[in-house]
Amino acid sequence: MLLNRLEWLLMNNPMRAAAQRYLEVPRLLRMGGAMDGGRALEVGCGRGVGSELILECFGVDSVDAFDLDPSMVELARQRLRSRGDAVRVRVGDACRIDAPDECYDAAFDFGILHHVERWRDALSEIRRVLKPGGRLYAEEIFAGFTACSLVERFLVHPQAGQFSHDEFRGALIERGFGVDASRDILGLGGFFVATR
Ligand SMILES: C[S@@+](CC[C@H](N)C(=O)[O-])C[C@H]1O[C@@H](n2cnc3c(N)ncnc32)[C@H](O)[C@@H]1O
Repeated sequence: MLLNRLEWLLMNNPMRAAAQRYLEVPRLLRMGGAMDGGRALEVGCGRGVGSELILECFGVDSVDAFDLDPSMVELARQRLRSRGDAVRVRVGDACRIDAPDECYDAAFDFGILHHVERWRDALSEIRRVLKPGGRLYAEEIFAGFTACSLVERFLVHPQAGQFSHDEFRGALIERGFGVDASRDILGLGGFFVATR
């Protein structure tokens, strides 16, 4: 689902970019290490900071990125223009990923699946497009945060789309991922590295 105006602003500012660069990326790298080249997919790329960091820090050769929101895609295109053929950005839906089976070496989710009502279907789609042995790096927000009354009042999330660390981990395992590492940060959010 699309972000409301407030969350759109919370995602499009230097603080969000700093959190991704200095907290989330180092954590995911400590948990799963970098890749040795290959093609990556970023699901729900927002304004493209994640794709920039995936290229700079995770050792992949190229990134395909998509987002449901055309305004985000436009910002990401502008941001990533200087990267040339190493990055392609498009509008797309995590529940119907426009890519053939088994074509990516890695997939990245920076806090998007808690915005997707059918997040389990999105995980199945991510698994479908990953090569056997391909890796999913995910940072997610849990129901412990999204169900806070203040958050519920000001931000919009799909009711049926919220999950805990254990529910997300269980859904990965149900879909045949091996969970290499996961972290639950006070029930509010967490990190996962999983291999198809
Ligand atoms: C909380 S923002 C995170 C954006 C970016 N990944 C970041 O970390 O700054 C969630 C993003 O997911 C996108 N989104 C929501 N539902 C989606 C879907 N079904 N498919 C693809 N993107 C989706 C939203 O448009 C938004 O850009």
